[in-house]
Amino acid sequence: MDETARLRRLYGRLASLGYGGDYNPEQWGPEVHAEDAELMREAGVNLVTLGIFSWAKTEPAPGAYDFTWLDGHLDRLAEAGVAVGLATMTASPPPWLTRLHPSVLPVTEDGVRLHPGSRQHWCPSSPVHRTHAVRLAERLATRYGTHPALALWHIGNEYGCHISRHCHCEVSTAAFRGWLRQRYGTVAELNDAWSTDFWSQRYGTFEEIHTPRKAPSFRNPAQQLDYWRFSSDELLACYLAEKEVLTRITPDVPVTTNFVPLAKTLDLFAWAPHLDVIAYDSYPDPHDESAPHRTAFSYDVMRGLKDGRPWLLLEQAPGAVNWRERNGRKPPGRMRLDSWQAVAHGADSVLFFQWRQSRGGAEKFHSAMVPHGGRETRIFREVRELGAELASYPDLLGSRPERADAALLLDWPSWWALELDAHPSADVRLLDAALAHHKPLYDASVACDVVSAKTDLAALTRYRLLLIPNLYSVTNETAERICTYVRTGGTVVMSYFSGITDEHDRVHLGGYPAPFRALLGLRVEEFDPRPDGTWTEEIHLEGAQAVTSSPEGAPTVTRHTYGEGTAWYLSTRPAPKEMRALLDRVRAECGVRPTLPDLPEGVRARTRVTAAGDRLHVVLNEGDLSVEVRRESR
Ligand code: GAL
Repeated sequence: MDETARLRRLYGRLASLGYGGDYNPEQWGPEVHAEDAELMREAGVNLVTLGIFSWAKTEPAPGAYDFTWLDGHLDRLAEAGVAVGLATMTASPPPWLTRLHPSVLPVTEDGVRLHPGSRQHWCPSSPVHRTHAVRLAERLATRYGTHPALALWHIGNEYGCHISRHCHCEVSTAAFRGWLRQRYGTVAELNDAWSTDFWSQRYGTFEEIHTPRKAPSFRNPAQQLDYWRFSSDELLACYLAEKEVLTRITPDVPVTTNFVPLAKTLDLFAWAPHLDVIAYDSYPDPHDESAPHRTAFSYDVMRGLKDGRPWLLLEQAPGAVNWRERNGRKPPGRMRLDSWQAVAHGADSVLFFQWRQSRGGAEKFHSAMVPHGGRETRIFREVRELGAELASYPDLLGSRPERADAALLLDWPSWWALELDAHPSADVRLLDAALAHHKPLYDASVACDVVSAKTDLAALTRYRLLLIPNLYSVTNETAERICTYVRTGGTVVMSYFSGITDEHDRVHLGGYPAPFRALLGLRVEEFDPRPDGTWTEEIHLEGAQAVTSSPEGAPTVTRHTYGEGTAWYLSTRPAPKEMRALLDRVRAECGVRPTLPDLPEGVRARTRVTAAGDRLHVVLNEGDLSVEVRRESR
């Protein structure tokens, strides 16, 4: 059974977009449960995530399972017509597991073994954790596989949130060595890839290799890069071990896990094929003016993970969170706007952390759909209104986000490599670059997809414009594909410090950026980042035209006709206003238009296309004033 068939189990249970949140009934007694049922009905809840942190309650002693408490909740939810994303409960191991098997606890890079008492305190390579986790997943699948409430499996929780690249114990070290053996075959190959003749690092055997633990100075960059890869793969292996047992026992139930906001830790393009539907947790800071844009970008990333397919917003906060230094509330209306923003960018559900605000524990000051104050609160009133509003657009369910004409290229291994230490500047950060390129499109209400560096040529050529922010590390094959994309008519906007190293962080020789020199029509001789964080470089034009130059006459933006297409190059980061003007010009040249024309300042629109082919525009007013927008579709 493939993912489309499995997803029917979820979508078949929903009459409109999914609406609800993390439901943690084990924190409450029967009276509250009865009220939950009533309030969920009032709020229009149709989907909840159940059991995320319920391992200790469900398996109170090794191998002794107690499902009775859960049976009742699932029955009640089924009766109320609420679909359930049932968690495999493995994100937070119970105290007995780490008491009996302290080796499960992760070890930091300086050798400190972390303690239990919080959550996610497990080593991703631990066979003990994996065996116990899979055993629990198997029990859950066997018991609830045919339960009418079960619509979706939710494996673990936010992989890599607390423990990515966080284990340097002996078990992890052995696993890392095994992973390297698989990747390189021989230690000679590894020595070559890791440039170990530098600083006398040549290895005689795999047994001499460690995870990049705390060391006197810079650690080998290729080793660090491989450790990033290994960590993402190792967590994926944990996920897959559980998934394997779930799909064996319940082949008709879709499987997902929730991704952390704009996380660097996991190579999400490598993970995405293993999720039946992408799921995401979003926590914009209501006091950060850049948050709506960052959030829009993250949603574009989520949509890009499965080539434009809708995804699930699995968590957001109805009001304040509790984990920033100061946790401001979301002002009235903000939650509604945030929710529609997610839908506009492709979300098929609007779920919250969590349904009912906890009374005790570390998250008691985190907002919830039902606040401590209960039904007579502003938040619950807004929750109720939003539930009714979402339900009144049933056509959105089954609609697909309209494909954009522009895309931004993102690659996790290059992101990891870009931000390694001992570089020309510590100020070059991938997210800053990606957001700076995406913002002019967002501000102009131009839709932008996100694609992986591995996207094939046919898929790339669907786009008129490709933004390539700081693609520092690139394989020859990817570079060649990007060049062909332009040669055959595409337009790229590429920024500095792209095409510098290969997949082992070895410099592409032949003048920077060697794989893109012909494409860009220039050569970079020296990098010269300034103390204020500005990046500059010395460029020699080899066919490109300078579009703008610095006061000293150095080209800052160049344009080069290459075959049928055009390659723009930014040798520095223009100020936001100039970046907007530049991208407006580029867009005009290659015909990339806003979703709707002439939208007032602060108003943004995205389009979804229904199964019947109708275009639905979701129009978001992110400004402070009321505006009226009446437009025919383009
Ligand atoms: C998420 C997590 C939830 C909850 C939430 C609070 O990272 O998945 O369990 O902790 O944050 O904002």
